[in-house]
Amino acid sequence: MIRACYPGSFDPVTLGHLDLIERAAAFCSELVVAVIHNPSKKTMFSLEERQQILTQSLAHLSNVSVDYFSGLLVDFLKQRSANLVVRGLRDSSDAPIEFQMARLNRQMYPECDTLWLASDGRYAHVSSSFVREIARLGGPVQHLVTPAVAERLAQKLSPKEAL
Ligand code: PNS
Repeated sequence: MIRACYPGSFDPVTLGHLDLIERAAAFCSELVVAVIHNPSKKTMFSLEERQQILTQSLAHLSNVSVDYFSGLLVDFLKQRSANLVVRGLRDSSDAPIEFQMARLNRQMYPECDTLWLASDGRYAHVSSSFVREIARLGGPVQHLVTPAVAERLAQKLSPKEAL
């Protein structure tokens, strides 16, 4: 029984995130996708929007649920009886911060471990921050996010929404 958690900002969720979630869901009994709620950090999409987009995108995966957490990830893991954190590694530049987080989390919650999946080559260059930048600058994002997310980005950046 593997009860795992895939935490992240998901601002917005990308095709790279979705690929990792599908792959992790295949070997986890339960996978909670946990959206971080950090009121001091400005995000393009609200917590509710990020959760809603994820819930819609993951409706086909019966063992995956979407939740949010604020505060320490380890407290959320304990609350949800999860002791595995799943994260993606796009390339070696992701490793230092990922190893640091995993070690800090284990220091606070020794029963928990982190498992990294190598991002699929199709998505190794994809990040939410570049998706936001490309969208803000009027570039194409169809190859980086789902059509639903592309539409949400367009709405968010339309002059009407900005008013
Ligand atoms: O998608 P991101 O922004 O790379 O996700 C980072 C996240 C949310 C996994 C990370 O910032 C996190 O776990 N924050 C929770 C706060 C916490 O537990 N910090 C202490 C040790 S890392």
